[in-house]
Amino acid sequence: MPFASTLYFATMLLFALAFRAGAAPQPITRRSSSDLSLTAQLRLADTAIERYQLLPNDSDFVFNFTGTEELPVATSQNWPALVGVGTAFSMSQLPACSMSFLHLHPRATELFALVSGHILSEMIPQAGVLDSNNKQRVIRTDLRPGQVTIYPAGSFHTQVNPDCEPANFTAAFTSDEFAVSLVAEQIFSFRDGVIARTFGQSIAGQDIERVRDAIPTDMAIRVDECLSKCGIKQ
Ligand SMILES: *[C@@H]1O[C@H](CO)[C@@H](O)[C@H](O)[C@H]1NC(C)=O
Ligand SMILES: *[C@@H]1O[C@H](CO)[C@@H](O)[C@H](O)[C@H]1NC(C)=O
Ligand SMILES: *[C@@H]1O[C@H](CO)[C@@H](O)[C@H](O)[C@H]1NC(C)=O
Repeated sequence: MPFASTLYFATMLLFALAFRAGAAPQPITRRSSSDLSLTAQLRLADTAIERYQLLPNDSDFVFNFTGTEELPVATSQNWPALVGVGTAFSMSQLPACSMSFLHLHPRATELFALVSGHILSEMIPQAGVLDSNNKQRVIRTDLRPGQVTIYPAGSFHTQVNPDCEPANFTAAFTSDEFAVSLVAEQIFSFRDGVIARTFGQSIAGQDIERVRDAIPTDMAIRVDECLSKCGIKQ
């Protein structure tokens, strides 16, 4: 199976979600309530009782991840029943031999649970959390099916699937609109001078542009050694 067709991973899809959610919001005062999305109406509801009235169908309380081409992430933007609940959920897959973008969630802690396959996870908590050598602590976990790890809100994290099979996972978030920040791409959006000073002038001018251009934009980053081990075509 060509690698590209197996790409099915939440982080980039979240991007798509962010763009969709960002499509021209209008001030509420300019719209009658019937123009508001169901999600917006639910947010404006005075009470939870009113929210249940806005969700009359029992099927409003079911989100179907199976077999859809939709985003594998349920948030209050695509599943209105999450409004007021304060959580979101993902059921997804990290393809064989791939690594998720180094990312963080600005508004939510994530509980990441492996259903099948194998994941090597790395997480960097806030500054000041040190290891026994007084260096920044990096929490590395080797996850097997049935295990869960925690990414506290704002912590940097990434996952590698080092095996030849996809890794299926679920993830729960403590916000109905948890969002994602992509560390490399966003840092390199600063002006060159800011980047040069940030990195102690070790990178400047053309090199900054080279790094910008080299930051992968694929949905999941391929791990080359693994791809050749598994005989997966790139
Ligand atoms: C309730 O949901 C089902 C399944 O999505 C749909 O077929 C039906 O039309 C809905 N009923 C109402 C009253 O919205
Ligand atoms: C879930 O969605 C898929 C794809 O649209 C569909 O084939 C399947 O029947 C749905 N499952 C249920 C229980 O509605
Ligand atoms: C992983 O998820 C995919 C897509 O939902 C599914 O087809 C596959 O059977 C799952 N693999 C395992 C081992 O559960």
